[in-house]
Amino acid sequence: MNENQVSQTEYIAAVRANSARYAAEHGTPPIAFVLTLGCQQNEADSEKLAGMAEEMGYEIADKPDDASLILVNTCAIREHAEKRALSLVGQYKHLKAKRPDLVIGMCGCMVVQEHRIEEIKHRYPYVDLLFGTSSLYRFPELLAQKLERKKRILFHDPDDRTVAEGMPIRRTSTYRAWVSVMYGCNNFCSYCIVPYVRGRERSRAKDAIVREVRELVENGYRDITLLGQNVNSYGKDLSEQCDFADLLSELDTIEGDYLLHFMTSHPKDATRKLIDVMASSRHIAHHFHLPMQSGSDRVLQAMNRHYDMEKYLGIVDYIREKMPDAVITSDIIVGFPEESEEEFEETLNALKRVRFDMIYSFIYSPRKGTPAAEIEAQISPEVKSARFDRLLAVQNEISLEKNQPLQGMALRVLCDGVSKNNDAVYQGRTEGGKIVFFDGSQELEGRFLTIKIERADTFALYGTIIEK
Ligand code: SAH
Ligand code: SF4
Ligand code: F3S
Repeated sequence: MNENQVSQTEYIAAVRANSARYAAEHGTPPIAFVLTLGCQQNEADSEKLAGMAEEMGYEIADKPDDASLILVNTCAIREHAEKRALSLVGQYKHLKAKRPDLVIGMCGCMVVQEHRIEEIKHRYPYVDLLFGTSSLYRFPELLAQKLERKKRILFHDPDDRTVAEGMPIRRTSTYRAWVSVMYGCNNFCSYCIVPYVRGRERSRAKDAIVREVRELVENGYRDITLLGQNVNSYGKDLSEQCDFADLLSELDTIEGDYLLHFMTSHPKDATRKLIDVMASSRHIAHHFHLPMQSGSDRVLQAMNRHYDMEKYLGIVDYIREKMPDAVITSDIIVGFPEESEEEFEETLNALKRVRFDMIYSFIYSPRKGTPAAEIEAQISPEVKSARFDRLLAVQNEISLEKNQPLQGMALRVLCDGVSKNNDAVYQGRTEGGKIVFFDGSQELEGRFLTIKIERADTFALYGTIIEK
């Protein structure tokens, strides 16, 4: 713990006293509701926010209705995500009208952009509390100030490089867990807002990560995902000599029945050493999420990605050589400014060459303050959406072809309980993250099962349990 964190304990105590007064008055503790938008990093941050709120005497609810504290953890990656956050917060205005003591907070990536701070300041007067990801650990302090002074706290300290340890975490699952290994990003891909809103790369100390993973395994966690914007940069800022492959090797020595995943891996510094460690490990899932973004060297350069297709394909081939069973997934952006029809077709051809199991595809969304947003020749919405549809059509066929050979095979699947969309079936995920549906029962949730795959379609596998 560093100095800043130690000082949080007094604020936690102050808010807890406030919560106790509320409980004495109302016969029930105050309720907090944390809403998460965006990626796994935000999910992990929200588990810490909920953990801190719990420590401060709040009961955590899964809806905003009776809450005394609402926190919206925002994302800025595409325009859609920002609009969603603002519209959600807009919906909470009427709750505030009913309960003036309600505290509405916004945090995360979107709310540290200057233009958003101004917008929230003037157009969302009912937002009481605002802070960015670098100040996450100061949430108790900021909330205590808000409660004490009854005035708005809009706080942003972009230069805070604290790597906070020891925050309480209220995990949403008892068998899947996120573990952040580093924060921030130094890459400045020309389309991306993340380096501006999450600051520079900071790695957690290896020992702290090892301790956290060991505790999770001891507590029965079966699937642990290490998080960072570019995990391959892990350790570059530490005094201790330890790169990401070294970290994985050490984690792999922890005894237990569990799988380790990681995301995201930037192709510019995905090393053979990392792939060798994965191939010879006992616990690291044979799953590589390796965002390609585009199949055109010209576009990759304009995106500031620092690799070309030759390098990218070299990594894919090496993964397949060392781990023929590896599931490889990717992120693709269509409609980057100036992307020509030929360049888009290079992306289609790259999909056919690589044959990813699955991709996450995105329509380029200009982000204020990033270099790509300044390029004049933006692609029209019609062309972007037509390219998006063509991309999906090509990938869907490949995904189906990748899934079909799994029919007849017995796969290890971690059961996630009853399906969210159909309560007549159970669902789980394979080591490579593929969704499997099967007949199951409640007590299987959180357990590894062996499932014989009987049918495969583009997005899922269907099978029968052969071993529990
Ligand atoms: N750090 C990760 C990516 C995090 S963002 C990496 O480098 O791989 C997840 C994905 O969102 C990116 O891989 C990219 O495909 C997409 N993305 C980022 N900025 C975007 C934008 N402005 N428009 C559309 N998609 C974007
Ligand atoms: Fe964004 Fe690139 Fe950093 Fe990923 S590596 S978060 S795409 S800037
Ligand atoms: Fe994640 Fe969105 Fe921030 S994708 S890093 S929450 S901008």
